[in-house]
Amino acid sequence: MGSVSITNKPHAVCIPFPAQGHINPMLKLAKLLHHKDFHITFINTEFNHKRILKSRGPGSVKGLADFQFETIPDGLPVSDVEATQDIPTLCDSTRTTCLVPFHNLLNKLNNNISYPSVSCVISDGAMTFTLDAAKELCVPEVLFWTTSACGFMGYLHFPQLIQRGTIPFKGVKKMRLKDLPSFLRTTDPEDLMLNVIIGEVGRANEASAIILNTFDVIEYDVLKLMKALLPSIYTIGSLHMLLQHIPNNELRFIGSNLWKEEAECLKWLDSKENNSVVYVNFGSITVTTPQQLVEFAWGLSNSKQTFLWVIRPDLVVGDSAILPPEFLTEMKERGMLSSWCPQEDVLNHASIGGFLTHSGWNSTLESICSAVPMICWPFFAEQQTNCRYCCVHWGIGMEIDNDVKRGEVESLVKELMEGEKGKEMKMKAMDWKIKAKEASVPGGSSYENLDKLIGEIFITK
Ligand code: UDX
Repeated sequence: MGSVSITNKPHAVCIPFPAQGHINPMLKLAKLLHHKDFHITFINTEFNHKRILKSRGPGSVKGLADFQFETIPDGLPVSDVEATQDIPTLCDSTRTTCLVPFHNLLNKLNNNISYPSVSCVISDGAMTFTLDAAKELCVPEVLFWTTSACGFMGYLHFPQLIQRGTIPFKGVKKMRLKDLPSFLRTTDPEDLMLNVIIGEVGRANEASAIILNTFDVIEYDVLKLMKALLPSIYTIGSLHMLLQHIPNNELRFIGSNLWKEEAECLKWLDSKENNSVVYVNFGSITVTTPQQLVEFAWGLSNSKQTFLWVIRPDLVVGDSAILPPEFLTEMKERGMLSSWCPQEDVLNHASIGGFLTHSGWNSTLESICSAVPMICWPFFAEQQTNCRYCCVHWGIGMEIDNDVKRGEVESLVKELMEGEKGKEMKMKAMDWKIKAKEASVPGGSSYENLDKLIGEIFITK
């Protein structure tokens, strides 16, 4: 590596949807491509760029000569960088306002003679406006759906369900097709997120290929069916396991945290026995009511298990997190609270025995790759589908009722950490970890698929 002159390198422009669970896997893919001698331009929104700078310090998005960061506006009014962006509003705004600045940015990159010309665009699957700009430049575009295959399959079914008249549901409130992505729980045909998904998956076939951060054996059946709908799918997960093969990775200090990471919890975990700590984290978007927070608190406390609980500053709707003082006193003995942690390191820590999660795909995959069984409390999007697959197909999860009660938290946490079902799930999780690893080493499906993607789509001779 490094022998190719800068101007001859393929130049990939990577543009994630501007939310944490989308930026993280895109950054990993960008780093892998950089290792394969690509010039990278990574595009964040101005808002997130500021947040990343704030959470990690200036080094985090400075980049290198051949790994550069650029920004475009997200189209929303300028707001406080501490404020959480509303996902439907953000979807609407990116779809309707980002094409022009994205297009201008591509032109700017192409007019700069110190960079190679843009040779491909890798865009989040929910940002298909980028296809128009890539078409105009006559460069291939690949869509990266940062979901599981099963979750993406759920989205692909939305148009059919509408044609059949199954959704939007008519007249009946709170009716749900429980395990399909939550965006179909609507009685309004004009519902924004329903239409975002239909619009975005409707353009999937226009891309040169689709990338999924999953590995073949875990989603074999669904991938087989999906290939009939979308022939050009490359499964290259887990990206973080693939990244582990890069020795002395010069990009390792480039991060994408939107919140300031508190690494002290790793020291605390060092003092705990193997498989003894329950890790609780609901990702970057989930919110709880104050009452749900209290139910989780007492459930954890009553389980008598040791726990690390990450409570994002904006986790509780309309309020700061208020935990009962008695809980806080009791917790000192065997609990730790944090506001944002290095999750991959936490999940890989020997002391972690189970994960109470919202079933976001990144968290789920990271848990699988660390052999950690889960309690699933899905919040929205395709998290419901991920939960179903964890519990029923992969045997590594137990679902907790959406209307969470402390008694159920207590009994599920005890079962996860000490029960027979917990032991069975741990065995299965260990098995899936081995399979994930096999997919990511030379000769493995994901490892080979990344090279195929580069050879077949990005660098066609
Ligand atoms: C969600 C889900 O990906 C998905 O279901 C849906 O499409 C919308 O986005 P999110 O809530 O961010 O995203 O969950 P997840 O996919 O699990 O991603 C969270 C990422 O942040 C993970 O990579 C995780 O490691 C990281 N994280 C989370 C931290 O680094 N520290 C934390 O404290 C919490």
